[in-house]
Amino acid sequence: MQIEPQAFDRVLSSMCTEPHPVAREAAERFLATNPGDPGTYPTITALEDDAVAMLGELTGLEEPAGYIASGGTEANIQAVRIARERAETRTPNVVMPESGHFSFQKAADVLGVDLRIVPTDDSFRADLEAVRACVDEQTAMVVGVAGTTEYGRVDPISELGDIAASVGAMLHVDAAWGGFVLPFTDHEWHFGHAPVDTMTIDPHKMGQAAVPAGGLLARSDDLLDALAVDTPYLESTSQATLTGTRSGAGVASAVAAMRELWPEGYREQYVRAQHNAEWLADALEKRGYDVVEPTLPLVAADLPQSTFDALRADGWRISRTATGKLRVVCMPHVTREMLASFISDLDRLEVRASAPVMGDD
Ligand SMILES: Cc1ncc(COP(=O)(O)O)c(C=O)c1O
Repeated sequence: MQIEPQAFDRVLSSMCTEPHPVAREAAERFLATNPGDPGTYPTITALEDDAVAMLGELTGLEEPAGYIASGGTEANIQAVRIARERAETRTPNVVMPESGHFSFQKAADVLGVDLRIVPTDDSFRADLEAVRACVDEQTAMVVGVAGTTEYGRVDPISELGDIAASVGAMLHVDAAWGGFVLPFTDHEWHFGHAPVDTMTIDPHKMGQAAVPAGGLLARSDDLLDALAVDTPYLESTSQATLTGTRSGAGVASAVAAMRELWPEGYREQYVRAQHNAEWLADALEKRGYDVVEPTLPLVAADLPQSTFDALRADGWRISRTATGKLRVVCMPHVTREMLASFISDLDRLEVRASAPVMGDD
């Protein structure tokens, strides 16, 4: 019997989503191509150039360098690698707010870089004083997050850029999740707003491409040169990616999704997702739960452990933040009907929890 993939109809915790139909079709068509060897697979390489150019358009960069990575993790690792290669010190450090993604821990581990994690402020954004106090002459990179994984917050990117510049460090922005919604907001987060050197922006999250389609962007080609190694046995001569052979599915699907949706489709998706997040936040607040205001389409709220466990047992795929809050990501597959059904299950469980137990006085 053929096993079907899991449906998305109860998935509220994931930053992945159902690929757009055109992205799915493109992924299938280009599955067996390898953009890791541009000399042998020139068609997918040309598509990758298109993908990077389009990502540049989203992020205020006229002549972007970069490539389609396996995901945000690879892009973040590679950004740290660029910073390490360019640093003059042999003991480089990276300074990041605690809201930064755990992929930077992997990067630090693999690359032998000291990762310095600084607190966030009351609004869950990087605490600038803490960042300022933490950087020094050995700082190779300061990380800002544009759309944090747990609360959807955008760090003060310009100010982080100033701090990075004060010690000659690079500025990396992790917009892995936020990059496809932020163009429709007033936030200042991209290459056009601040002296950002490198950025992570993943088509396979809010971009509706098929996995694996992460994105690494760099302000100029020479930054990517720091990653390149010679590739003697291939038809091409060098490779800047972390992986070698990689499927063209992610590349082709990223291009297909962006051609189809940028900008109007993504704008409509953002508006819908943001309205859904506000609706959910409101519904939870009305029921007496403490809610973190959704500035982007991501809701966090205090929910008792027993309720959380009961919702999971009912089949809802939900997760918690590091401090134990419920976290719901309003991805493109998350509809108002899904959220209404979630709230109605929550109400049913709460009634059951507050009902007197048989035999009690
Ligand atoms: C802000 C941010 N950066 C990086 C990542 C890692 O991305 P991936 O899981 O595609 O490697 C995530 C994942 O959710 C993320 O939210």
